[in-house]
Amino acid sequence: MAHQLGEPEPLDPRFDRSAWWRRDRFGMFIHWGAYAVPARGEWVRSHERLSVADYQPAIDAFNPNPDFEAWADTARAAGMRYAVLTAKHHDGFALFDTRLSDYSTVHTLGRDFVAEFLAAFRARGIKVGLYFSLLDWARPDFPHFGDLHHPMREAEEYRDHTPDLNSYRAFLHGQVREICSTYGDLDVLWFDFSYPGMGPEQWGAADLIRIVRELQPNAVLDNRLEGSGPEPGSILTDTPTPFCGDFTSPEQVIPAEGIRGADGTPVPWESCLTLNNHWGYCRHDADWKTAPVLIHKLVECVAKGGNMLLNVGPDAHGTFPTQCRRILAGIGEWMDANSASIRGCGSAGLPKPDWGWWTAGGSKLYAHVMEAPVGPLQLQGLRRDRVAEVHLLSDGSQVPLVDAWSVADHPDQAFVAFGPQPEWTYPLPDPVDTVLEVTLR
Ligand code: GLC
Repeated sequence: MAHQLGEPEPLDPRFDRSAWWRRDRFGMFIHWGAYAVPARGEWVRSHERLSVADYQPAIDAFNPNPDFEAWADTARAAGMRYAVLTAKHHDGFALFDTRLSDYSTVHTLGRDFVAEFLAAFRARGIKVGLYFSLLDWARPDFPHFGDLHHPMREAEEYRDHTPDLNSYRAFLHGQVREICSTYGDLDVLWFDFSYPGMGPEQWGAADLIRIVRELQPNAVLDNRLEGSGPEPGSILTDTPTPFCGDFTSPEQVIPAEGIRGADGTPVPWESCLTLNNHWGYCRHDADWKTAPVLIHKLVECVAKGGNMLLNVGPDAHGTFPTQCRRILAGIGEWMDANSASIRGCGSAGLPKPDWGWWTAGGSKLYAHVMEAPVGPLQLQGLRRDRVAEVHLLSDGSQVPLVDAWSVADHPDQAFVAFGPQPEWTYPLPDPVDTVLEVTLR
């Protein structure tokens, strides 16, 4: 498919459902549940081989009073336009109103946190999604001994345990039906995850997708009914299954070249990343990424034609950790001035320039200059006769093309300067990422 310079590359019509999602580009992931009480991440049961009984003190102590409006304000201020909350993680403890189990906050606290989350974020014009774990380590019918991840996978007392996958599938499908029929239109459904021994056959994915599409025909789905972070599944093949999803979900990584299908055309993708190194709240993990780094990564995702879903793990009170709020505020400050180069944008179809990245959208090109040039900046990839005008996106000021003796040997190339003397070297207006809006002839 021809790629018009300044316009994102067209996609196969099978991806039309995600058009809004590909415009929004930047979302908030929220991993929150009883695992915030041990505060060692959402895999604490598996990593520490905790039984359901061992974990019960966390369930008993989980009595938060979250301010979902504040969560939504933080997401919106950061420039995020969709948000995905864990309705139920692998521990099986649900934040939603399920009639199929009493292992939920509705039963323990009388609180349907999913309903409250959806109301607060919808009220702020943020599209909403729910993460739903295909695994459930609290269910007796789920595989235990010998499973790849179950907390009791090596426990001798479970050596003779017999899973009942028919029973488990009925429960799984029942809760997915509850999720899809209780809360109105969902914009995103984020299933997690398939792995050796537990995949689409065990989930009953062919039936599950029929339930989802019957109740939520417009929800944008990830690929993990058959995949995982590193395993994209059939969405990239020329024989996609009905449950292949609408996007691939690389995890804690940004794909080197973006993601394309077997036919070479782009496939929607979303890199999901943590702010530190844990999805769920982890008190000892202080390895926070910085706002400048995350701005660069967001730009990289969009420049490669993808989305970024950035995770927050609220604590046991339901509060966003202070560091998270500071980082998101830093991203938001940059987004306030530069979101036009992110939302509604994608790959520019130009080679990566030395100084940063190109994005494109709405017939504009956006130069993301992250490294100051020596002398004038070459708008690498653009001939001078293609450039009509250049503006600093943040304030709309004109940044004229320049002639400089130092680059007189490149008369056909486009150069701009960030100060009055074209041959001089100046600091970038925004040292993190100075965005130039380029209008083409
Ligand atoms: C992995 C983690 C899971 C997390 C998910 C988010 O599957 O195991 O805890 O929810 O990534 O992408």
